[in-house]
Amino acid sequence: MGFFASVNGVVTPAGEARVSVLDNGFTFGDSVYETLRTYGGRPFEWGRHLRRLRASAARLGFEVPLADDELLRRTDAVLERAANPESYIRMIVSRGVGDISYHFERVAGPTVVIAAKPFPAYPDWHYREGIPVALVSVRRNHRRALDPAIKSSNLLNNVLAAREAQAGGAEEAVLLNQEGEIAEGASTNVFVVRGGTVLTPVLEAGILAGITREVVLELARGLGLPVREQRVLPEDLTAADEAFLTSTTREAVPIRTVDGKPVGPVQPGPLTLRIVEAFRAYAPAHCA
Ligand code: PDD
Repeated sequence: MGFFASVNGVVTPAGEARVSVLDNGFTFGDSVYETLRTYGGRPFEWGRHLRRLRASAARLGFEVPLADDELLRRTDAVLERAANPESYIRMIVSRGVGDISYHFERVAGPTVVIAAKPFPAYPDWHYREGIPVALVSVRRNHRRALDPAIKSSNLLNNVLAAREAQAGGAEEAVLLNQEGEIAEGASTNVFVVRGGTVLTPVLEAGILAGITREVVLELARGLGLPVREQRVLPEDLTAADEAFLTSTTREAVPIRTVDGKPVGPVQPGPLTLRIVEAFRAYAPAHCA
């Protein structure tokens, strides 16, 4: 078991991996990333993650310099060295090494880092009982300032929100957008169930198009559940029958309380449980 990283194709123990202090990823937070995980040792939804990575880089005006199959070869090399039963994979592509200036034409080609560590599973009680979340005062970045659809490693908005939630003993922060609607968690997407309908904020609310969110929407529709992407207000969450979060690392996890107040009559609720189970059945069969 171990934590290994590939920097531009060279694999070393992660603690020994080095990127230049002049890398724009370090000096400007000028990089994009994906968090993937493995099931049965293989990366989940490889194609969807790579498409989103390329779309994020394109929004910042640079290209991921390698083809998908080369990125998979590099990922496999790291997974092989790490030899974990299951891995957490972080892929980071920065604009590259610059000279601490806004002269982007002087930046050498992108830096590509792929790191893998043993998958840190969340405790079982999260799924049995649901987790406490906090509606934090930090608002999600406005789409016209720094679009949350870009999965950039410039994560200070998320860091501030997560710190606020953790200070109050919550497991995850839920952020509102500038209009006061529910946007997303610091590293999750938000779902609520009201009157038998599964609701989640529309992408236009200014959120990341989560891959788990997308898969859950497909699975819920496949189960014949009424599903709607719409504007979701804080009251929709606090008065929900059920609520859950989704992310690569958490899958679908029930919300037990919002700011200390219980959500719905029982947690996890029946529709949440069906979705959690459907996701667990789907995941191992959709890996590279
Ligand atoms: N977080 N919203 C935000 C702001 C996120 O950072 C993430 C992912 C999600 C869920 O997306 P997905 O289902 O594609 O993982 C939503 C990852 C896990 C991370 O930050 O490591």
